[in-house]
Amino acid sequence: GKRINIAIDGPAGAGKSTVAKMVAEKLSFIYIDTGAMYRALTYEALKENVEISNGEKLIDLLKKTSIELINKSGKQLIMLNNNDVTEEIRLSEVTNNVSYVARHVEVREEMVRLQQQLAKHGGTVMDGRDIGTAVLPSAEIKVFLTATVDERARRRHEEHLSKGQPSDLELLKSEISQRDKLDSERAVAPLKKADDAIEIDSTFLSIPEVVGKILTIVYEKG
Ligand code: C5P
Repeated sequence: GKRINIAIDGPAGAGKSTVAKMVAEKLSFIYIDTGAMYRALTYEALKENVEISNGEKLIDLLKKTSIELINKSGKQLIMLNNNDVTEEIRLSEVTNNVSYVARHVEVREEMVRLQQQLAKHGGTVMDGRDIGTAVLPSAEIKVFLTATVDERARRRHEEHLSKGQPSDLELLKSEISQRDKLDSERAVAPLKKADDAIEIDSTFLSIPEVVGKILTIVYEKG
């Protein structure tokens, strides 16, 4: 039979991608990072000097841009027109502009179309903001993963420090709050828990604990 799809949504920095990747690995499912798709378009728009306030120009750009997620020896690479932009799309310039790109209805329609195409055979774990509400409303399992802003900023801060990167905790806190606000208050497909999503607050949970909870939900369904 057709394999299920698992939707994982939630605010910035809640650990969605780490958790989704691990769940996918356990189930031999494909992990699809939809945020990376919006980031790739944002990166390209900044590079090509396309105004990010202009939805029509962005959609023209998106239509002539190829964005691929490829899995290479356990790592997911983000390819933009066949160039590896995996690292570049995490730069703060991209992070701080992506919500302005993602608010355009035209952009979202095309992204949703691409994402639905990727999930049509099932067997995916997809993470983002609108997966349970808009991209895969009939996903068999929906998780809404949260944590307090302080905790999310703290984790990101630790991650930067452990990589030897400069980091400012207060700045991270304000950037994360700002992105949550933009993503939750936009008109089209805002960040929102689907009615049938199970909420997991990870503030006091480790990554393996969150993964374990989701796998339990999968097995109970199964
Ligand atoms: O998940 P990540 O933090 O990489 O997502 C980057 C941005 O892309 C989000 O802040 C949001 O503006 C946008 N996004 C979205 N819908 C999704 C995934 C991401 O609007 N499904």
